Amino acid sequence: MSWTRRHLLTLEELSLAEIEQIHVTATAFKKILGRSVKKVPALRGKTIVNLFLEPSTRTRMAFDMAAKRLSADVISLDAASSSTTKGETLRDTAENIAALGADMIVIRHSCAGSPLYLSKILNIPVINAGDGSHEHPTQGLLDTFTMKEHLGTLKGRRVVILGDILFSRVARSNIHALVKFGADVTLVGPATLVPPSLETLGVRVSHDLRSALADAEVVMLLRIQHERQTATMFPSLGEYTSMFGLNKTRASWLHPKAIIMHPGPINRGVEIDSDLADGNRSVILEQVTNGIAVRMACLYLCAGGNPEAVTPTA
Ligand code: CP
Repeated sequence: MSWTRRHLLTLEELSLAEIEQIHVTATAFKKILGRSVKKVPALRGKTIVNLFLEPSTRTRMAFDMAAKRLSADVISLDAASSSTTKGETLRDTAENIAALGADMIVIRHSCAGSPLYLSKILNIPVINAGDGSHEHPTQGLLDTFTMKEHLGTLKGRRVVILGDILFSRVARSNIHALVKFGADVTLVGPATLVPPSLETLGVRVSHDLRSALADAEVVMLLRIQHERQTATMFPSLGEYTSMFGLNKTRASWLHPKAIIMHPGPINRGVEIDSDLADGNRSVILEQVTNGIAVRMACLYLCAGGNPEAVTPTA
């Protein structure tokens, strides 16, 4: 199958075959990352601009590393050091970046729809690195990639996403991917953060933590996104933790081989106990590592790279 998209904006719009193609390409790049020379010349001569107008540690660094591993030139711009602080619009900022010769823009922005907007006004590929509460497609891709490494097929697998779903772009991207893979997805959390309307996405909604976690093969924790909440969604963090925080007792309800995931940043002692975040069922740092290979695949394919040229060897 050939890759035909210039932009990566959402997982909602990708087909299962496209998601699988990114995963296959990421598998090939992961093998390269295991070598002593971790670099390939695939994007030599290209310039990628990482425009991060919202804070980030993992996504921004992984995109930086992915571009460098592909031999691209990388320039990173954040909100504090850009002329957006002087009132420059997103459109003007992006058009100036394109005028300076960028071949691709990776954008993180607090406004849902910003990457789509840029894809309509620029003539270069645009990659969504997280837009408001809407989507975080590369996170959904690296999360499902990590799940497949541990579980093989995702079809029929019991996946629980626990926490602030309403404001989570990570949850939304994972839901779109997991439903396409045929996973059995349950969303759990306080009713204010996990409304029944989310069932229209093809998942189950529950507010009963014990029955949701029972025999689940994956639990993905999400932090409370205070920066996006416009009202108090529950009485206090302490009450959230007492009712929905993952601790040793609650983790014992999971399938014996269950994996524990979190996209980061973690609020230790709030949505997850430190013992579990650092324990042997946690794959949290594997998710971070996989973020490089998955983002290499996204940059490579959207830049017009030939998927066949990086076919993994057995
Ligand atoms: N998972 C994630 O998006 O983390 P950052 O905000 O640190 O990029």
